[in-house]
Amino acid sequence: EINVDNLVERLGEEKLRELSAAFYRRVKTDPILGKMYPDDDWDGAEERLADFLVMRFGGSTAYMEKRGHPRLRMRHAPFVIGAVERDQWLTLMGESMREVGIPQQEGVVMAQFFAQIADFMRNSPH
Ligand code: HEM
Repeated sequence: EINVDNLVERLGEEKLRELSAAFYRRVKTDPILGKMYPDDDWDGAEERLADFLVMRFGGSTAYMEKRGHPRLRMRHAPFVIGAVERDQWLTLMGESMREVGIPQQEGVVMAQFFAQIADFMRNSPH
């Protein structure tokens, strides 16, 4: 059974690093999300998301060693995240998943996970 705990086993860590790279290539020039990210640390942002996904999907815990407990809601508190930002994040991630060729069944599990976290990050009614 495919679940968030065996995605690294099924896809390999490299696929998740490719996914983060594809995602940030889009974010960088995105009119809604681009300006929210630190313009001088795109490589760092790419690595933080990749490390987090690898850990959350059953792989290495390097994220924790580098960043400590994720506390994602707290870490997103400085950014205004409403429905528009949430939906755009999910759109760009969906495109990235297709670009790197996440298979259908793994994709369903991942998309559900992303939708749940993205909604949890919302801190603005707009
Ligand atoms: C960091 C925006 C959703 C995971 C960040 C950063 C921004 C941001 C601006 C700072 C960039 C950096 O320096 O790392 C957003 C917006 C979202 C969203 C607008 C819309 C809902 C998500 C989701 C996840 C996620 C759904 C996970 C599935 C992360 C991680 C970091 C991060 C792991 C780095 C945390 C750290 O260690 O500092 N996000 N994010 N974000 N985001 Fe999001």
